[in-house]
Amino acid sequence: MQAKHPSASKTVMTDMVLPSDTNPINNLFGGELLARMDRAACIAAERHSGQIVVTASVNHVHFRKAVPLGSVLTVEAKVSRAFGTSMEVFIDVWMEELNAPKEKVNEAIYTFVAVNKTGTPVAVPPITPETPLEQERYDGALRRRQLSLILAGKLKPDDATELKALFR
Ligand SMILES: CC(C)(COP(=O)(O)OP(=O)(O)OC[C@H]1O[C@@H](n2cnc3c(N)ncnc32)[C@H](O)[C@@H]1OP(=O)(O)O)[C@@H](O)C(=O)NCCC(=O)NCCS
Repeated sequence: MQAKHPSASKTVMTDMVLPSDTNPINNLFGGELLARMDRAACIAAERHSGQIVVTASVNHVHFRKAVPLGSVLTVEAKVSRAFGTSMEVFIDVWMEELNAPKEKVNEAIYTFVAVNKTGTPVAVPPITPETPLEQERYDGALRRRQLSLILAGKLKPDDATELKALFR
């Protein structure tokens, strides 16, 4: 399969924060943001693989800053690395308020698996990073995958070579 660039999967979704999206103190409800990120990341993984994809794991979420009612939220997702049938997707989130500069408020990492119509995992194309940031995210993806597989009980810590190398 021919390698693709992360930019081919880039997915940007912009939407407002409405009253039904907020918690009792009028900030965006965390679960609503998780759903928006899941949708954008799912589209990015489908653009990369050309297949149906399912969320296999939410590897990391950092709610850096509260997002108030009425803000405009932009969610940008890109595949950072592809393995056999799975893909790591990085999600960056920015907020815009009236008369204020655009500000990054959140970052997350999800894992998707490409599947056929019966839900069986299928192979995905590899990825070739282009920019320094894409290269950095690509390089770290293997150890994040090993950590996620350990937590899911699918990899023995002793076999997580890339992860162990961090502590040497
Ligand atoms: C995700 C799913 C397809 C994996 O199927 P499986 O039979 O466990 O298949 P495997 O163990 O062979 O794993 C397939 C791939 O997923 C990866 N994977 C599975 N669990 C993972 C996890 N927790 N973290 C990271 N990668 C994971 C495996 O490493 C493998 O990737 P690779 O082919 O690139 O090496 C299956 O568990 C599933 O359908 N889960 C439900 C998904 C879903 O419904 N999501 C949306 C609602 S929350």
